[in-house]
Amino acid sequence: MSRIFIFTGKGGVGKSSVASAHARKSAAEGKRTILVSTDMAHNLSDIFEVPIGREITNLSENLDALEIDPEYVMRTDYQHFMQSFQEMLASPGIGMGEDADTVMFPGLEELFSLLKIADLDAGGAYDRIIVDCAPTGDTLALLKFPELLGWYFEHLFPVGKFAVRVLSPIAKHKYKLELPDGKGMNDIEKLYGKLIELQRLLKDNSKTSVRIVTIPEKMVVEETKRNYMYLNLFGYPVDGIYINRILPESLDNRFFGEWKKIQKKYGDELAQVFAQKPIYRIPWYETDLRGMHGIDRIAGDALTDMDVFRVNKEISGEIFEKTKEGYEMKISIPFAEKDDLSLTTNGADLILRLGNFKRSIPLPSTLTTYDITSAKLEKEQLAVCFSPRMDEKKDA
Ligand SMILES: Nc1ncnc2c1ncn2[C@@H]1O[C@H](COP(=O)(O)OP(=O)(O)O)[C@@H](O)[C@H]1O
Ligand SMILES: [Mg+2]
Repeated sequence: MSRIFIFTGKGGVGKSSVASAHARKSAAEGKRTILVSTDMAHNLSDIFEVPIGREITNLSENLDALEIDPEYVMRTDYQHFMQSFQEMLASPGIGMGEDADTVMFPGLEELFSLLKIADLDAGGAYDRIIVDCAPTGDTLALLKFPELLGWYFEHLFPVGKFAVRVLSPIAKHKYKLELPDGKGMNDIEKLYGKLIELQRLLKDNSKTSVRIVTIPEKMVVEETKRNYMYLNLFGYPVDGIYINRILPESLDNRFFGEWKKIQKKYGDELAQVFAQKPIYRIPWYETDLRGMHGIDRIAGDALTDMDVFRVNKEISGEIFEKTKEGYEMKISIPFAEKDDLSLTTNGADLILRLGNFKRSIPLPSTLTTYDITSAKLEKEQLAVCFSPRMDEKKDA
């Protein structure tokens, strides 16, 4: 079983460098490792100073790399899915008619990057898959996509009731069902199954780690906190923070005096915010890090912890618990502000809005006859209580 490490953060903070340093370290530990870039502006080739590109390229012993071209993945690995998908959009039920082949869901193309990662995992050739992501916004859009599209599949498309029942995360959770072998399912149901699998894979904290790279500066720290909040909202397991570009303490130059103070302030803030998580600190080097030598400096200075690849098991994502009055759902959303948060339900889903993000959390079927009775945001945790609907109670 491979472990997946996803590196995210604002543009330019050092994601590619840090991800590459992990890849080098991992390979040196004798683990079969692949470094994968999902950033459309790939730069692994620059770092390793060899052409990489859309086919898996061997870099050194135990280390391969790949710069994913989602278009290419779609054309080579998922051609027939796309065909069925477009036929379905054109079908009378959906009624996009001739527009179907021009309509693309935003983010659909990038989804193939994630499917590629899932396929690398399923292929079993690697112990560790290290993912160098696009800047925060794009990564979040990407990470929420499988769930969003899964939702569309369930609600708008002809995914058989059976498939939904068997594949949906709740069914899994409740009945511990395994994915059927796909016989008897149509292409759309298979793709739906893959999306569900993908969510499971990326949100499974024994399997996937999301690592945030940041620098100790106001704007970046603000963004880091928001990023962390949204990752929590979607249930992605964050288990490591990298503070990059720390000015060396020994630097004795008046010009940098003020910068050192600023860095200390925001470094302390990060330490407080992420007190529960492993924090790795990377010095600011006198030159940029192009080339393997530069990358190895990060590994040597900051990743000396034996356990940088450790599984950090923590509860993430939402949990439902039985209470006296009904059920309670808990989800941890650090930094969320009450005023930015809104909750509604449409019977089947709980719809959580936070700033520009919206998440539909499917409710266990028991709860479809329940109402939300209260919601509380306290200590970075949202607790939503459900009780049986009044008229249902009467009937019972
Ligand atoms: N600690 C550091 N000291 C000096 N240069 C760095 C450091 N971290 C990153 N860099 C340089 O900063 C630039 C951006 O880093 P990169 O890893 O490509 O960021 P990202 O992938 O987040 O956009 C690169 O030129 C890289 O070599
Ligand atoms: Mg990069």
